[in-house]
Amino acid sequence: MIRKHSILLLGLLCAAFYGGILWFGFSHPRLSTWWSLPTEPPGTMPWHAPSIESVSADSQGELIRQGRRIFIATPEFASDHARALVSCSDCHMQGGIRPYASPMVGLPAIFPTYNKRAGRVITLAERIQECFVRSENGTPLDPQGREMRALLAYIDWLSTPQPTRRKFIGRGLVPMPALTPDPARGQRLYVAQCAGCHGPIGAGYTPQFPPLWGPDAYNDGAGMNQIPKMAAFVYHNMPQNRPGTITAQQAWDVAAFIHNQPHPAFNQAYKHY
Ligand code: HEC
Ligand code: HEC
Repeated sequence: MIRKHSILLLGLLCAAFYGGILWFGFSHPRLSTWWSLPTEPPGTMPWHAPSIESVSADSQGELIRQGRRIFIATPEFASDHARALVSCSDCHMQGGIRPYASPMVGLPAIFPTYNKRAGRVITLAERIQECFVRSENGTPLDPQGREMRALLAYIDWLSTPQPTRRKFIGRGLVPMPALTPDPARGQRLYVAQCAGCHGPIGAGYTPQFPPLWGPDAYNDGAGMNQIPKMAAFVYHNMPQNRPGTITAQQAWDVAAFIHNQPHPAFNQAYKHY
């Protein structure tokens, strides 16, 4: 009899315990992402994208829509200037709003700003040119032309609800503590966790899955070709279907492996970008 009671009591306790967990989960929906990466450090703010449907039908609206098309499908909509089969939004993910993936939001309030690579103060348009000649392995846009104006209009529009100069979370590729990478270990990780989407020889399956090396990838002058920058990108954003599951060491390892694969050579004629 006593045993029966204690089993019943135990059952009740278990039910109460799991019920409590369920209640807690439902009443604190944000906590369901507990184990994902922190996205809102103190003193910063999250970002909410405006809806593209809210863009006006006039010519300014058309410029914004064109900028968005170029950003999301660069090889198609800026084909004269992009030799790589990689779009802006393959790296600046979710159309340029994803924290820790070098988002575009808030940049109009930050530029012109000092640029270490150029060794001088540059405009946002010049920064875009850098990505065209390096990340897109292409050629600069006409600085006054329609494509540049469209990209700037799109970035401005993305940034409209952004209170001026207030820090947006996860700008750039936020540097990680330096670790010593092991490319051989990185290769094993690549085969196991990356090749499914980026292909066995890094060529990707375009346009869905961008190339990481070979003739269609970014060139060796690109930011993504720097091991610390790629490690930071990969750590926060890849594997794309389960970000947050690889360790910092694994991110460094795989970045070093990819770095050692062949990339097109940066055209030194564009060194000033
Ligand atoms: C292969 C990846 C890749 C592609 C493709 C790419 N970029 Fe970038 N971009 C980067 C990296 C890496 C940085 C540097 C981030 C850092 O230093 O923290 C960067 C930086 C930038 C910045 C400055 C961001 C800041 O916070 O200062 C702008 C603006 C930019 N890119 C625009 C573009 C545009 C527009 C395109 C498409 C034409 C593009 N990028 C394509 C990788 C890429
Ligand atoms: C489920 C498919 C998938 C897997 C697995 C995956 N990626 Fe990606 N990766 C993508 C997609 C798609 C993008 C473009 C960004 C987007 O649309 O989300 C991307 C973008 C990238 C980029 C920037 C774009 C470029 O061309 O340079 C890098 C670097 C990258 N992935 C590295 C990795 C690494 C390293 C792994 C393994 C740890 C990995 N990815 C696993 C799908 C995947």
